[in-house]
This record gives sequence, C-alpha cells and structure tokens, in this order.
Amino acid sequence: MMPLIDRARLLADLDALAAISAPGAPGVTRVAFTPAFDEGRRWLRARFEQAGLRAAVDAGGNLIGRREGDSGLPPILIGSHSDTVFGGGRYDGALGVLAALAVARALRDQPLRHGLWVCDYLAEEATDYGVACVGSQALAGALTTDALALRGPDGRSVAEALRAVGGAPEHLNEARLAPGSFAAALELHIEQGPRLERADARLAAVSGIVGIRRVRLLLTGQPDHAGTTPMDARHDALAAAAAIVLRLEALARATPEAIATVGRIEARPNQGNVVPASVALAAEIRSLQPLLIAQIWGALLEGAQAECAARGVTLAVQALEDAPPALPAPWLFDLVSNVCRRLDPRAIALPSGAGHDTGYLAAIGPTAMIFVPSVGGRSHCPEEHTSPSDLVLGAQALLEAVLAVDAGGTTSTDETE
Ligand code: HGY
Ligand code: MN
Ligand code: MN
Repeated sequence: MMPLIDRARLLADLDALAAISAPGAPGVTRVAFTPAFDEGRRWLRARFEQAGLRAAVDAGGNLIGRREGDSGLPPILIGSHSDTVFGGGRYDGALGVLAALAVARALRDQPLRHGLWVCDYLAEEATDYGVACVGSQALAGALTTDALALRGPDGRSVAEALRAVGGAPEHLNEARLAPGSFAAALELHIEQGPRLERADARLAAVSGIVGIRRVRLLLTGQPDHAGTTPMDARHDALAAAAAIVLRLEALARATPEAIATVGRIEARPNQGNVVPASVALAAEIRSLQPLLIAQIWGALLEGAQAECAARGVTLAVQALEDAPPALPAPWLFDLVSNVCRRLDPRAIALPSGAGHDTGYLAAIGPTAMIFVPSVGGRSHCPEEHTSPSDLVLGAQALLEAVLAVDAGGTTSTDETE
C-alpha cells in the first residue's frame, strides 16, 4: 500500500508558515538573515523535531532534520529553502521544505534503507548581500571567502550573518558534503513560469537548471548642480547606467536561449536637482548554455566601458555569483519522470529558468527536481499561487520518488514501473 501525504496537514503547514512574514511588508517576506526568517526557522525546527527528525543547523547555516537509514546507506536529501524575496509568495521554497517534512511524516513508520535528510537550505534568494544559495553552496564547497566578505545593508558581512543563524563560517569544511556522500537530492518546487499551465500538465520532471552569472556594476561620476552644469560638462552616472540597462536588454532579446535582467539600481545622491554621482546596478544573465552567458557578458562589459568613457564615468565590476547550469542525473531524471507520469499522464519535462539549491548540489551528487504549476506563471510576488491539489500531488510525487530511490533506483528505473 503506497503511503500518502497528509493533505490537510501539508496545507495547514503552508498557511502557518506563510503567516510568518515581516510586519507591514507585502506578500510573504522572510528575507534571509532577518527576524522574520529567524522566526520561520524556529517554527520549522520545532516541526522537524515533532516529526521525529534530529534537527540541527550545520556550519553552512542549513537547517537539516535527519533520520538514519536501516541499512546505513547514504542519505536521500529532500528539501528547498524557507527564505523569500521581499514581497514574495507563499510557495517559492516553502513548498519544497514542507513537502519534504510531509514525506518524512508519511514515511515515519516505513522502513527505509537510506537515511533521510529534510533540508531547509540557507538563503537561496539573492539577498541584498549579493550572494544566493549560501547554504547549498556551503554543502557543495563552493562558498568563497569573497562571498563571505560581502556586506549587506546592515553592514554585516555574510560570515557574520551566517554565524547569527547558527552557521560557522570558520568551519565550513564541516558542512561540506563529499561527492557521492548522498544517494540522491530531490527538490519539489513551483515552476514560477507559465509552461505547465499552457501544457495543461500538473507535474514536470526538471530537465536542467539554468546557469546564472550575477554581477554588481559600480559607476562613479560627479555630483553637480542640475541647473547650471552644461550637458557637455557632466559626468552623469545614471545616464551611463540607463544606457547599460538598455544594452543588456537588447543583448538578451537578441539571444533566444538566454535572458538577462538588471533588477536593482541604487543612485546617489538620488535627488532631482543633482547630476547623479554614482550608481550601483545588480545585473544577472541566465542560460542553460554557459557560452551564451559569456558572450552576453563580454558584449555588455565592452558596451558599459564605452558608455562610461564617453561620460567621464568610471566603472568597477564586482562578480557576485557564477552558478553553472546543472543537469539531473540521468537515472534519477528517468525515475522522477516515471513517478510524475504515473501520477499525471500529462506530465512533461521542463528546464528551469529559475536558479535552485539543487543546481549547486548537482556538482556533488545525483539530483533531480519536480515542478508543480504556478497559476498565471506568477512568482516572486504576492499573487504567486498553486492549487491545493497540485501542491499535494507534488508532495506525493516527492514521496514516491524517495521510495523508488530507496528501493534501489540507482541501478535501473524499472522498480518504479
Ligand atoms: O532567482 C531565482 O531564480 C530563484 O528564484 N532564486
Ligand atoms: Mn525564488
Ligand atoms: Mn525558490
């Protein structure tokens, strides 16, 4: 008899976690390293323990609830992230963590050969510190000293913020998972796009996760009186930035297999009657093809240097992240695809335009992801929605994928037939 996800409890958990949000902020706001995030972590840890898991925060700041396996086989990791963007939705990340908890509850009395780790990976979203996937990078041994030294708006470094959530930046090697130290890492996530809905499908096996290059461009001009400074005597950092933003958009529009965004701009002194002195831009380029990322970045940098030189503005570039594209392990992708098709005959395969913790874990072991639909393709906004039945179906697919891996899915996928 196939164990089933407790539908009511999963939906209740999703509502309860969604209610933990920064007071006065729009949507669900549990930005990493903030009090709301910490409150969400306390809520999660209590439930991990209630589910019989041995919960702890590792040196990389990941909250992990562990259950040992009966045969001492390496663990199966299931989870996602509980942090959100500012003004985010109820399901980005939270679904993956709470579905993993629901799986652990449903399998509590089920013998498992492998260990089972329910994971809340730290700071998956690109925070104001500039780095994303902090916890999964730590697990993969990819968190650099440069990243740890980045400072957030409150002046703290990533290392200090990591320590404040229970991590240990000076002992990151203790969090690092050796390649092959886990049997599989599975993540359930909302699609955050319109393709499942357009295909009238309820489940997707994710065929790949885009690579993401994130940079900060720092432009320095000169503040001057906006009324008395002739146009040919200005060093206008914001005018240069505007040209760069439009150039990145044009480059991405001309490259069908890539996308690019400048999602954040900070102009100083940001006053209407002062020629802008300096601008910081947060830019990112994404593609499943690293060569396209490199091509767009090269063309953007060349254009940015020209726009700045023409205005007597200096340009500095700070590399923030360079996550390579990630592919699922073929045997695990087949296993997850079989599970999805069994639960939804219309299930499809789909690449992910969003980055995920799984992208970093793919560098050290077999991974796969399952998507459920986002209504209207909306995400990273309060309108983010997935139907209750699809949420539960996704969690059931995660559960059945865990059982298929535990039954020996590493050699063939006929166990799941
Ligand atoms: O930005 C992303 O792709 C993810 O939602 N963090
Ligand atoms: Mn997100
Ligand atoms: Mn996410």
